[in-house]
Amino acid sequence: MNRPLNRALIQVKNLCYRYPDGAAALNGVDFSLLEGEKLALVGANGSGKSTLLTHLAGCIPLGGTGDILLSGRSVGSDLERLRRVVGLIFQDPDDQLFMPNVLEDVAFGLVSRGMEVSQAHRRALAVLETLSAPHLASRLPHRLSGGEKRVVALAGILAMQPEIVALDEPSSGLDPRARRRVIEILKALDRPMILATHDLDMALDVCTRALVMNQGKIAAEGELPGLLQNESLLLENGLELPPRFSAH
Ligand SMILES: Nc1ncnc2c1ncn2[C@@H]1O[C@H](COP(=O)(O)OP(=O)(O)OP(=O)(O)O)[C@@H](O)[C@H]1O
Ligand SMILES: [Mg+2]
Repeated sequence: MNRPLNRALIQVKNLCYRYPDGAAALNGVDFSLLEGEKLALVGANGSGKSTLLTHLAGCIPLGGTGDILLSGRSVGSDLERLRRVVGLIFQDPDDQLFMPNVLEDVAFGLVSRGMEVSQAHRRALAVLETLSAPHLASRLPHRLSGGEKRVVALAGILAMQPEIVALDEPSSGLDPRARRRVIEILKALDRPMILATHDLDMALDVCTRALVMNQGKIAAEGELPGLLQNESLLLENGLELPPRFSAH
């Protein structure tokens, strides 16, 4: 069967969400992630980026208003379907690391999906090697530095080879060399991706299109670099020109 180009992998329709304490975090989000696309999700603190990503990864049940479609089919209450397809690296790596050592942590998802332990450990080590972090394999995850935790959390998701990768602030807390390495890995990764970040220079390096979130909505979307060169649009949405476009 011939597939149309730029088929939508994920469609989000009028997604609304209020946290149990009443805070309205998503106020009618609409967008699509297209086949082969690396999409940046940018916006000021509290604009709803993490809430949106946790919905996409099936970590929060849909609250009744709105829908998420995977390859054109509504997920409804089948969060497991989202979890299988979308691998999310959380904003706080401590939400993701809990095994007694790094190798077991990176292998955890594979083992829980039924892969034989020694094979899962081999795959986990290979992924740590691509991230220049095999030396962390026997370390206790909770004793790692912030940047090391982020690299290990990334390894855990990459080991699972999800169809779609969602990343929440993957460069935050990384030193310049580790940040560049993560950028190179994300550029080389042949997967559709949605990347929430305040690091607009990283978004420009990795992504081809961006969504700007403001108060739980998509306030603007467009191709890169154009969208992130529009200073007035960025200012209206609580953002600033990325360093590479800023005269200062
Ligand atoms: N667990 C929670 N309980 C209640 N309200 C929450 C919770 N998590 C987030 N919120 C609220 O939901 C809104 C969206 O938060 P969210 O974390 O999605 O924003 P964000 O764009 O990821 O911000 P940041 O750039 O700081 O990571 C904010 O108003 C926030 O205060
Ligand atoms: Mg966030």
